[in-house]
Amino acid sequence: MLQSPRVLYAIVSSGLAGVAYSFPTFQWPNPQLAYADNQLYEGVLDILAQNCPARDNTTINAEWLRIAYHDMSTHDVDDGTGGLDASIQYELDRPQNIGQGMFDSLNDFKAFDILAPFFGMADTIALGAVFAVAGCGGPLIPFSAGRVDATEAGPATVPEPQQDLASHTEAFRRQGFTPIEMIGLVACGHTLGGVRQVDFPLVVTDPEDVLQTFDTTIDFDNAVVSEYLQNTTQNILVVGPNVTTRSDFRIFSSDGNETMQSFLSSNTFNETCGNLIQRMINTVPSGVTLTQPISEPFDYVVAGPSFSYRNGTLSMVTHLRVMTDNPSRTVTMLWADRQGSFCPSTGCTTPSTDNLQVFFTFIGTIQGLTADRYVFNATIDPTTSISKFWFEINENDGSDPIIVDNGGSGFVVEQDSVFVDNGRSENVFVSPSFTDFIKVVVGVRGDASSSVAITTFDPNSDATTPPYLPTITTTNLQLDDSNPAEGGFTFFTANISGSVNFVNISGNVGGVSYTEENYDMSVVGFPFVTV
Ligand code: HEM
Repeated sequence: MLQSPRVLYAIVSSGLAGVAYSFPTFQWPNPQLAYADNQLYEGVLDILAQNCPARDNTTINAEWLRIAYHDMSTHDVDDGTGGLDASIQYELDRPQNIGQGMFDSLNDFKAFDILAPFFGMADTIALGAVFAVAGCGGPLIPFSAGRVDATEAGPATVPEPQQDLASHTEAFRRQGFTPIEMIGLVACGHTLGGVRQVDFPLVVTDPEDVLQTFDTTIDFDNAVVSEYLQNTTQNILVVGPNVTTRSDFRIFSSDGNETMQSFLSSNTFNETCGNLIQRMINTVPSGVTLTQPISEPFDYVVAGPSFSYRNGTLSMVTHLRVMTDNPSRTVTMLWADRQGSFCPSTGCTTPSTDNLQVFFTFIGTIQGLTADRYVFNATIDPTTSISKFWFEINENDGSDPIIVDNGGSGFVVEQDSVFVDNGRSENVFVSPSFTDFIKVVVGVRGDASSSVAITTFDPNSDATTPPYLPTITTTNLQLDDSNPAEGGFTFFTANISGSVNFVNISGNVGGVSYTEENYDMSVVGFPFVTV
C-alpha cells in the first residue's frame, strides 16, 4: 500500500529544476516491492541488454522480447488461464518455440541468481522484456512483479507464420488483444531481430542468409514501419519468397495500413509499443495479482535490519536509500527500546557510518537519477533492546529536516528473540575443493532447550537445461560449539548453500514461537573464512 508521498525539493533530469517533486514510497516491510525496485534499478540483468548487444546474428534484446511474447501466448481470455507464467520452460520442444535464443535467454535469466521467494522466472522474463526494449532505445516500460510460475506446459497457442489472418486475429483475441492491437504488437516486436534460416528454412529459403532482419536498424524504432510503407522492406514475413509465410504482410495491411501509417510518428510508435508490451508482460492467469507498476525508484528504501550479539552488545545494521544525491545531507537513525520510550544511557540515536553512492541500472541512468545509501550500525542495549526505528534526514540547506518513519508507525522490529547473527555467520571457502558454503549462525535469546529451523531459498538450480527451479530446503539447526552461549543468548548453526539469498527462521524459545520471514542474506556481507 502506498503511503502519501512526501514532498522534497529535488532537481530532476526532466527539466523540473527547483520544482517540488516526490518519489513514491511504500509501507515497510514489503519485500516484494523492495526486491522488484532493486532488480529494476540496482540489479545486474540489465548488463546483458545495455546498448542492444549482438548475439548469434541477432541481439540479446530480440531474444528476450520474443521469449516474453511466446511465454505470454498461452493466455486465454475466455477462461482466464495461461499468460506470462514461465510455462515456456516446459514448452521448448515445440516447433513454434524453436530457436537457440529461447535456451540462451533462459540461461541468461538463470545465470544471475535473480529468483527470490517472491520473484520467480516469470517476473524475470518480464523484467528481461523491459530491459530488452529500453536497451535498444525503446520506451521505458513500468515494471510490476508478482507473476506466478507455472509447473507445467500450457497450450500450444503461439502464432506461426504459415497461419492465415483469421487464425492470427483469433489467436490475438484469445490473448486479449484487438485486431488493431495485433498490428501494433507485431510491429513493436518485429522492430528487433529477425528470422533464422536454420529454424525457418521454409521462410528464409536462401541457405546463405543466416538471419534475415525485420528492418535495417538494430534499434527499437519504427524503421520496420517506414520501410514497410515505402516498399523498401526486407522483412521476410512481408516480402519473402514463400507467400504463405508472409504473415506480417497480412497483419500489417489488415486495416488498409491505417495503423502502420500512424506509426510513422515515432512518438505514436513508442507510446503504443510501451503500452502494448506492458499489457503483454502483465497478461497473467486470473487470480494472479501484480504489484503496482514501478516507473521510478522508491524513496527511503530500508534494508535489513540485521543483528549480532557479542560481549554484552546487540548491534543492528540497516541501510536507507535516499533519492537524489546531496553530499551535504546528514541522516540520523533513531530508535525506541522495547520498554516504551525509555532511552538507555548507551543512547538511542546514531549517525550513518557510511554513505555510498547508488549505481543504478541503465534505466535509472536514462531517467537521470541519483541516490545515496546510508549505512547504520547501531549499538543497542541488549536488555532494553529495540522495538522500532526511524530516520531524520537533514539536507543542510536551510530546509526543515524530514522524518522518515514509515508513515508514522516507525520501522517495527517484531521480535528480537531469534535472528541471523551477522557477526558470527561466515562465508566459508573450502580451498582444496574450490567450493563454498555459508555457515549460518542464529542467535536465540534463550537457553539450549530452544529449537531453531530455517527454510532456505537457493535461486541457483543444478539443472543444465530448463526448467530452472529454485531449491527450497528446511533444516533444523544444531547448537553451535564454536559460539558458546553468552549474555543470555544461545547460538545455533547449520551449513547451507553459498548461493542462498533469503531465509525464513522459526524458533521456539521457552515454549513461545518466533519467526522471521525473508531475511535477506545480502544486507550484510558475512566475514569470509578459508578452510
Ligand atoms: C502473428 C504473430 C507472430 C508471428 C507469426 C511471428 C513470427 C516470428 C518468426 C517466424 C520469427 C523468427 C524466429 C527465429 O528465427 O528465431 C520471429 C521473430 C521475432 N518475433 Fe515474432 N511473430 C509474431 C508476433 C510477435 C510478437 C507479438 C512479438 C513481440 C511483441 C514478436 C517478437 C519477435 C522478436 C523480437 C523476434 C526476433 C527474435 C530474434 O531475432 O532472435 N513476435 N517472429
